[in-house]
Amino acid sequence: MADGEAIISLESVFKIFGPNPRGRAFDLAKSGVHKDDVQKQSGHVVGLTDVSFSVNKGEIFVVMGLSGSGKSTAIRTVNKLHDVTSGKVMVEGTDVQELTGSALQEFRREKMGMVFQHFALFPHRNVIDNTGYGLKVQGVDKRQRNEAAMRALSLVGLEAYALNATRELSGGMQQRVGLARALCSDPDILLMDEAFSALDPLIRRQMQDELMSIQSELHKTILFITHDLNEALRIGDRVCILRDGYVVQIGTAEEILTQPADAYVAEFVQDVDQGRVIDVESVMEAPAIVDSNSTLVEAINSLGGRQGGFCCDQDGKPVSLLHLADASSALAQGSTDLKDVLRTDFERTTAEATFNTNYAAAGRGLPIAVVDETGRLIGELEPREIMEEMGRVEQLIDGFDREVFL
Ligand SMILES: Nc1ncnc2c1ncn2[C@@H]1O[C@H](COP(=O)(O)OP(=O)(O)OP(=O)(O)O)[C@@H](O)[C@H]1O
Ligand SMILES: [Mg+2]
Repeated sequence: MADGEAIISLESVFKIFGPNPRGRAFDLAKSGVHKDDVQKQSGHVVGLTDVSFSVNKGEIFVVMGLSGSGKSTAIRTVNKLHDVTSGKVMVEGTDVQELTGSALQEFRREKMGMVFQHFALFPHRNVIDNTGYGLKVQGVDKRQRNEAAMRALSLVGLEAYALNATRELSGGMQQRVGLARALCSDPDILLMDEAFSALDPLIRRQMQDELMSIQSELHKTILFITHDLNEALRIGDRVCILRDGYVVQIGTAEEILTQPADAYVAEFVQDVDQGRVIDVESVMEAPAIVDSNSTLVEAINSLGGRQGGFCCDQDGKPVSLLHLADASSALAQGSTDLKDVLRTDFERTTAEATFNTNYAAAGRGLPIAVVDETGRLIGELEPREIMEEMGRVEQLIDGFDREVFL
C-alpha cells in the first residue's frame, strides 16, 4: 500500500451515551444541538457529533482537544471498545462495527498496539515478560516472544533493564515498556491515548523524540491522542482539533497555526511557540545582493527598502553584509566607502530550519542569510519578519468576534 492511503477512517460518527442512544438525543445531536443542551433535554451525553477523519498510512495523526471533547471516545471506536451510534469506522478495509467474538479479538491483537496514559504493567513481573505479554496471550512460545520483546526493548532503549521488575523503573521508563509492549507484536497501527501525559515535561519531550525516531524507522500508522497542542503540533503530521464532540479543524501544524479555523483554535494557538513549527522557507524573502565594488550610496539604493543586503563570492556564497543602520550612520559621518561598513559577523540559516532556531540571531537585529546545502545564498530573513510572523496569530484572534465564537 502506498503512503497517503487511508488506513483508519471515521465517517460521520456519532456516539451518544445513555439508555436510549438512538432516540431523541440522537435526533437533537444530528440537528446540531449543542451537547450541553442535548444533555439537559434528554439526559444523554453526546460523545461524538458527526466526526470524520482519516489516518493515512505511515502518518502520525493527532487528535487534540480539552478534557471531555471526545478524544478517548473517538480512539475507542477504532478498536470497538465503543460501539458507534451512527456512522462508520473502517480499518484497512474492515468495517470495525461488524466484528464480533474471536474475529474482533484477533483484529485487536494483530492489527494494533495500544498505549495508554496509565501503563497497566504488571508491577512484579520483569520488563521482558511485560513486553512480551501480548504474544504470550497469543500462545507464542517463550523463546520467540523473548526475542521479539528484546527487539522492542532495544527500540525504546531498555534492553539493559529486561530483567528488572517494572516497579523498579521510573515513570518514563515504565511508559517506554508500555510502548515496547505495543510494538512487540509488530502491529501496523499504534493507538496512543494520552500516552505521555503523565510524564514530566523533560521526559515527555524525550518520549516524543523517541516516538518520532522510532516512527522514522518503522513507518507505523499512529493515532495519537493528547490535550496538549504543543505536543500535537510537535509530533503530528496532521492534527484534528475536537471541541465538545465535534471536529473544529484538521490540518498540518503550520495550517493550524497560520490559518486557525475559528477563534477557539486561535485561542489555543496563542499559547504555542509557533517558531517550532514554522520553517524559514515559508517566510524568507529574496535576498538583496550588494556589489562589493559599488559606492556606499549605490549599495544603499540596491537594498530596495530592505534592512540589509549581502555581498557574495563567485560561487554565490555570502561573504559580507551591508546593514542599512550601519550604512546610514556611516553616511551621516561623511563616509562614502562601502568596504568600511560591510560586516562579516552575520548569521546563516537554512530554508528547512525552524523559526525558533533563529530567535537568538534575530535578537541581534541583523538580517540573516538563508543558504542552501552548498552555502549559496538563497534568501534573507529580516528580524522584523520574524516579529511580524509571531504577531500574526494574535491579530487573527483580534479579528474574530469573540462574542460569536467563545
Ligand atoms: N462510558 C461513558 N458513559 C457516559 N458518558 C461518557 C462515557 N465515556 C465518555 N463519556 C462522555 O463523553 C464525552 C467525551 O469523553 P471522552 O472520555 O471521550 O473525553 P476526552 O476528550 O478523552 O477527555 P479527557 O481529556 O478527560 O480524557 C464526555 O462528555 C464524557 O462525559
Ligand atoms: Mg480521554
